Amino acid sequence: MTMRGFRKDFLWGGATAANQFEGAWDEDGKGISVPDLCTNGTATETKWITTEIRPDRFYPSHEASDFYHHYEGDIALMAEMGFKVFRMSINWTRIFPTGEEDMPNEKGLAFYDRVFDCCKTYGIEPLVTISHYEMPYALVEKYNGWASREMIAIFEKYAHVLFERYQDKVTYWLTFNEINSSVMPFGAVLNTGTIRGYEGPVNEVPDNKQERFQALHHMFLASAKVVKYAHEHYPNFKIGDMNIFATSYPLTSDPDDVIENQQHMNISNWFCSDVQVRGEYPFYIHRYFEENGIKLEMEPGDATVLKEGVVDFYTFSYYMSNCITAHGGVESAGGNIIGGCQNPYLKESDWGWQIDPKGLRYSLNEIYARYGKPMMVVENGLGAYDTVADDGSIHDDYRIEYLREHIRQMREAVIDGVDLLGYTPWGCIDLVSASTGEMAKRYGFIYVDKHDDGTGTLERKRKDSFFWYQKVIESNGEEL
Ligand code: BG6
Repeated sequence: MTMRGFRKDFLWGGATAANQFEGAWDEDGKGISVPDLCTNGTATETKWITTEIRPDRFYPSHEASDFYHHYEGDIALMAEMGFKVFRMSINWTRIFPTGEEDMPNEKGLAFYDRVFDCCKTYGIEPLVTISHYEMPYALVEKYNGWASREMIAIFEKYAHVLFERYQDKVTYWLTFNEINSSVMPFGAVLNTGTIRGYEGPVNEVPDNKQERFQALHHMFLASAKVVKYAHEHYPNFKIGDMNIFATSYPLTSDPDDVIENQQHMNISNWFCSDVQVRGEYPFYIHRYFEENGIKLEMEPGDATVLKEGVVDFYTFSYYMSNCITAHGGVESAGGNIIGGCQNPYLKESDWGWQIDPKGLRYSLNEIYARYGKPMMVVENGLGAYDTVADDGSIHDDYRIEYLREHIRQMREAVIDGVDLLGYTPWGCIDLVSASTGEMAKRYGFIYVDKHDDGTGTLERKRKDSFFWYQKVIESNGEEL
């Protein structure tokens, strides 16, 4: 029997997000979004959010990697690697600067026309996240973000404009990036925008679970309404959800650890996709709500909206895994928004994220077993310090090693029978880190000469991983 590998039309590519990549934060009519008010931090020093632009602070999103002025060259480099797909996001405040204008900003819309047209020249399929951590700040000030139900209509208007404008250019859409970040306190800054009036370190936002979960309910409704609308008006569209999948294992075989991990997995990793893929609140959430004093306000008809707006495919980010224990006294471990404790079998990145390629195969199997929907891994990668050698080359063998092992395990999952549509590793061109605001935490195949003090020529350079990934794509994942 011959083993199947990746499907022939497998979508190899890379991923970015507007707020971390585009720069041009106040150009051509763009309004201020939440990340425009986020300062830079480091691996150990937390970044801040301010309520207005402070002249003595540095805001890394303002210039970022300046994709806004480099998009042609950047897309040409992606094409040179052989990309079939480019995951990117629309900057909400380019289209509606405060979220509430009657008419969209034409210059903002025109920018994405240029980007999509450029992709088309190279036969690259755009995969567009409608909202990736960049709520208009005006909506935070006026509504306390998604805490208000009014946000649903505001989001629908924004999404409808995008659908109408780009219907012939974009087929694949994702509603919210990593929607399940909202179950963690940091999600208030990233996703729910329930931070009205707060200025300070992003990890010290006063937490209000009731508000966060109510906000999340509004996001579920907004997503479902937009999915339903798209299905009715643009039957060729495929719309997915997007989750952080931070797999965790019980630290030991102690049944207490096993139960603790199961509960943790339910809330952190499964809850949001259970709603968005199955179209209803899962059974286990009611006990969680009760024990945490959460009482959702729902209107008649909400359940139907959720049911009618289930997504077409499931997507997720995968960077690391963790362990969970019911007992104390164990070293905690970092991770992509969702934490846990250390796994003695795994090594970690310079930012303390535990590297676990087999966890990707495991996750793909678990998710597929639960939903049976086509899937995409829309983020994966190693944030690392890169050094430019005297001759300008960048030898990032550590990154190649990380990606090789993850692709190998992804291939195993495909052979296991998982229906995998594509793979877009994160930050294919260096960009600003979402958690720390650093440039120094690099993920790219392409280096951007930009540094944490704001200096740099923005010149692009191919890293060793660029040439390696080019071969991977050329061989459809056979040559690793
Ligand atoms: C995901 C986000 O959480 O992980 C991205 O969708 C983010 O926006 C990526 O950049 C990597 O995380 P970080 O914190 O290293 O930038």
